[in-house]
Amino acid sequence: MIISMGSDHAGFEQKQQLVDYLRGEGYEVADLGPFSADRVDYPDYAAKVAQHVAEGKSRFGVLVCGTGIGMAIAANKIHGIRAANAINVEFAKLARGHNDANMITLSGRYVDLETNEKILDAFLTAEFEGGRHAQRVEKIMLLEECTAE
Ligand code: RB5
Repeated sequence: MIISMGSDHAGFEQKQQLVDYLRGEGYEVADLGPFSADRVDYPDYAAKVAQHVAEGKSRFGVLVCGTGIGMAIAANKIHGIRAANAINVEFAKLARGHNDANMITLSGRYVDLETNEKILDAFLTAEFEGGRHAQRVEKIMLLEECTAE
């Protein structure tokens, strides 16, 4: 399973550590940058990773910024993406189980590495529950057709 990953400067250190962690767990990781801790704008990396996922080049995307919030907002602008910001294991499980999220965004500043590793384990192993959740996810995806009037 291929996982694409990216960050901004605030998430850079944990992104590096989480890339190594997932590779150690046997996942193939496409690290889409950045490749230094220099200041960058998180929407640039959210777009790179979200497009990678939306084009089917990876199964899931993982983004790390200060909070995970900006990354989620930006990634969700790309059609086909359902990015969830998770700060604990339960949110990660529910993001897959109920929302069929295909991306997860993490906080590099407010959540420690060990917790983020557990969050990723939960996200990458949980299954979408389908059933009543499937029609809700379908309704979310139909919102991509909406334009402001
Ligand atoms: C960068 O300072 C910070 O705003 C960013 O990493 C992120 O937390 C945005 O949501």
